Parts: sequence; C-alpha cells; structure tokens
Amino acid sequence: MRLGIISALAEEQQGVLEALQSPARRVHGMREYTTGTLWEIDAVCVLSRIGKVAAAMTATILVEKFGVTHIVFTGVAGSGDKDVHIGDIVVADSLVQHDIDASPLFPRFEVPLTGLTRFATDLALTERLAAAAARTTRVHRGLIASGDQFIGRRQQLVALKTALPDLLAVEMEGAAVAQVCVELGIPFAVIRTISDNANDDAAVDFLHFIETVASRYAYQVLENFCKA
Ligand code: ADE
Repeated sequence: MRLGIISALAEEQQGVLEALQSPARRVHGMREYTTGTLWEIDAVCVLSRIGKVAAAMTATILVEKFGVTHIVFTGVAGSGDKDVHIGDIVVADSLVQHDIDASPLFPRFEVPLTGLTRFATDLALTERLAAAAARTTRVHRGLIASGDQFIGRRQQLVALKTALPDLLAVEMEGAAVAQVCVELGIPFAVIRTISDNANDDAAVDFLHFIETVASRYAYQVLENFCKA
C-alpha cells in the first residue's frame, strides 16, 4: 500500500505531517507533496486547499505522479443531521456532489455521463478508519455531501436536507476526490470531524474548531488507522 493523505487546510493535518519519518518534499502544481513513512506505512501527505477542483486535481496528481494505491481524505465538516454533534466524526459510506445539477438533461445530483449520483467508498478502508475513529470519539457512518459552498445559513442546510434526507455532513472536497478515485479505480475513504452545525454560527465555530481540535483528532485517528 502507498497511502495518499489529503486535507484541505494545514490545521487538519498538522501533527500527521510531523509524524512522517524520512520526509521528502516535492512541489508540483502549487502544492507540496511530502513522501515518507507513517507508522510503517508508505505515505504521501498533501494539502489540497478548499473546493472540488482543488481536491480533484490533488487526488489525480497523487495517483498519477506519486503512485499512491489508496487515498484517505481527512478534515472537518458541518453537521448535516440533528444527531451529529460538533466533535463527532463522520466516516463516509458514500458521497454526493450537492451542487451538480444538469437537469433536465440528467437527474439532479447525477454526474453527467457516469450514471452515478453517489460514489461509494472502499469498505475495507472505511471500516478500518471507523474503528480507529471510535477510539477517539462518537462515530457516524453514512452520506457526506460536497459542494463549492460553505454552508453558513440555516436555510441552505434545510434545502439540502430536504433533497438529501439521509445527509450526515457537508464539506467542500470529499465527493470530488471520490469521483476521481472511482474513475481511476483507487480505493478511498473520507473521514470528517464535525466543526460546526452548518448554520448561522458556522463560520465562528469552524474557525475556533480548526484552531483547537482538528489536528489532534486527525493525528489520533491516523495513528490508530496505520497501526491497525
Ligand atoms: N467544512 C466545515 N464546515 C463546513 C460547512 N459548514 N460548509 C461547508 N464545508 C464545511
């Protein structure tokens, strides 16, 4: 296994990067890829920055230029369900691009010409991540929705939840990585710690959470994941 680890922001990956043994840095396409050994696993860590295009490009480069065989995206998300609380972890079983809508040519949420609306994660990676996460906090499994929008108004979330009733979390990258990995045949998983409730307080909660908790959780989960 050569594991690619993507996060959007430095705060989501901080301790993990420091734990990487024999690190070697290479810059490509405005991103720094650090290869090394993470608790005996051959790994490549990178920050995608925010949004679906940024994440898709990063995942593609990880596979095509750095030869990763598996990808894990780790970061934070807004809650998409009343039972999913700040500090909980959501591990995706599937992901949807909530802002893709080529209707009436294709059904809303379907990625045109793929026939796919929901991209399923790799079961083995997902179970291993969920087991690792359960040692840190409460874990939920289910649907994560990604789009090029920070969901920071209650009404935005209500609209999304109406269209996707089983939604657990909202973020801005996971489903883009999912599409790339499905198209390239790369097993992948997405894990998100809930930083905010995707409501009118979301921006303040998000900034506070990524400063204080995000990297600590990512570190603990990835350590347990790699050592499992
Ligand atoms: N990532 C963390 N919180 C988010 C939110 N409310 N909307 C989109 N992405 C997020």
